[in-house]
Amino acid sequence: MTTVDDIRARLDIVDVVSGYVPDLKRTGKNYHARCPFHQERTPSFVVFPDTQNWRCFGGCATGGDMFSFVMRTENTDFTGAMRLLAAQAGVRIEERRERNDDDPLYGLNDAAQQFFKQSFIAERGAQARAYAEGRHIGEDAAARFGIGYAPSTGGELLRSLGALGFNDDLLLRSGLVLRGDDGTPSRDMFRGRLMFPLRDVDGRIAGFAGRSLDGSDPKYINTPQTSVFDKGRMLYALDRAREAIGAEGEAVVVEGYMDVIAAHEHGYRNVVASMGTALTETQVALLKARAQRIVLALDADAAGQEAMLQSLRTTWELVGSVAAGRRRTEVLNRPDDISSLRIVLITEGKDPDELIRNDPAQWQRLLADAVPAVEFLIHAEASRLDMGSAQGKSALVERLLPVVFAVPNWADQERYFSRLAEIVGVPVATLEAAVGRLQGPLHSQQRARRPAPEAGNRELESVFTVAEHDPLEERVLTLLAQDPEFMAQVEEVDPDTFVRPENRAVLFALRDAGTMEGAIAQLDGQLADRLVRHSLEALPPADRKQRTEEWTGCLRRLEERRLRNLKAQEAAAFSSDAVGDAPADPEYVQAVQRQALEVNERLRDLFTKGVD
Ligand code: UTP
Ligand code: MN
Repeated sequence: MTTVDDIRARLDIVDVVSGYVPDLKRTGKNYHARCPFHQERTPSFVVFPDTQNWRCFGGCATGGDMFSFVMRTENTDFTGAMRLLAAQAGVRIEERRERNDDDPLYGLNDAAQQFFKQSFIAERGAQARAYAEGRHIGEDAAARFGIGYAPSTGGELLRSLGALGFNDDLLLRSGLVLRGDDGTPSRDMFRGRLMFPLRDVDGRIAGFAGRSLDGSDPKYINTPQTSVFDKGRMLYALDRAREAIGAEGEAVVVEGYMDVIAAHEHGYRNVVASMGTALTETQVALLKARAQRIVLALDADAAGQEAMLQSLRTTWELVGSVAAGRRRTEVLNRPDDISSLRIVLITEGKDPDELIRNDPAQWQRLLADAVPAVEFLIHAEASRLDMGSAQGKSALVERLLPVVFAVPNWADQERYFSRLAEIVGVPVATLEAAVGRLQGPLHSQQRARRPAPEAGNRELESVFTVAEHDPLEERVLTLLAQDPEFMAQVEEVDPDTFVRPENRAVLFALRDAGTMEGAIAQLDGQLADRLVRHSLEALPPADRKQRTEEWTGCLRRLEERRLRNLKAQEAAAFSSDAVGDAPADPEYVQAVQRQALEVNERLRDLFTKGVD
């Protein structure tokens, strides 16, 4: 029995879910509640005790088992969910080997760092030192942040690491050297650049960034994704900032490396950088684990502002809905309120870097005046839409309603809702009526449902029953593990078509890492073993054409199965509802699924035709 099966045998999904969703109510055989993952007024979230599955028939239209439920609510990966559930079930899991800790790339990066630092202080580092000096990075700061130099000759790092015994394969995997035509390492990736080691939260060097010294493009080059480096999963200088962040309860996120160094050198030690990209969920989670408040310093005229707003909206919705779920057992001690995210716009084209060096007092004032993110979003979106037109107004409400509803604190939510109504120029009650009006029709449809055919349920059970093994999923994993051609198409395998949680976890790792080695490094003992077994499994002999047919056949069958399960779940959702005796009205399900769309339509009505 695997750990997963052990957990499944000991826990009931109803207990697991009701720990997060207090208003989960029994209705017939199943349980209903308002979906914890999106805002809705009509409960369309269903838990099926028989099959130990859950599903949302409303806006988010997703579903899964207890593992995927915990993954979503806790915003964690499969292993994280397994740990939480194991703790609840009293199942011991073998201590997770520190993620990637034995990855030889760390050793290689350390060696590279030594090389860059030595080059920086050597004679040939003169230009780099002058550049750093010109950017007000003195010797001390350079030493503290491990600033280095990559010589312009372009082959020295390669030679030096080769001499230390790092083999070609490892060198290529490190992203520090380029692959030549013959497939072997040909030259250094970073040439003539000021080097910044990029450390993970534990201080291990995961990658590097190099800045051009002469204004040439690209301004910065970063290590590409490797088995130990993923730009979206780290924050620059979090290792140095974590203590201050914890002590102050607040983290400040800026965009650039130089901004962080300036901040730390001026005593603002709780500052980290998102490295120029929009903040990811993982980055938010890294900060939320340590700080109650996050301040995001945005470049006012950055081209990336659009992307940042976009990601802010989705991250907020996501984190907001996660926070809204309440926990029975305090397994994780994460702050519950994302309303703590505030935004500062750095205007006048100035970097925090310049601002901090020229006018630290103004920097402090700006931070103090940071605006709550929801408010910022309302204003930012309103200023980009035409508030004089009905379309503009309804677009604003459509975009921001999910954000506002994701605010866990009721009083705050009310305040933002009023703000929204004010900006679009309708009374609060009117806006409320517009977005809440759907309840009526849905309820009456619920009551009008027809009885379901008797045989339905038994059929369902067989569809839902999750086998110990799933040959179809496992064949796909074996094909992926053994055939690079299929591995290159891993993105085409939809994780939603996998029902076994372990198989899904392995698939996620393969998709994430893109390589076998990377995936094995990411996975825990048990799961890594599974993947290794897949790679060793003997496949029946087949030629290329047959293999490819098998592959596409598997994917098609997975998709078919997913659709079948979906249908069955829909049927089960209304076959045992409490309202009435037994029911099956596809219109009900369709109505629920159309909910989000209809809200939007009603909003458009409201603003074009006026108030009724
Ligand atoms: P900025 O262009 O604001 O750079 O990009 P900066 O940090 O202020 O750099 P200086 O002051 O000109 O030296 C912000 C961040 O975006 C990423 C880097 O992480 C940078 O710190 N970036 C930017 C890249 O990765 N590549 C680029 O070409 C540019
Ligand atoms: Mn800058």
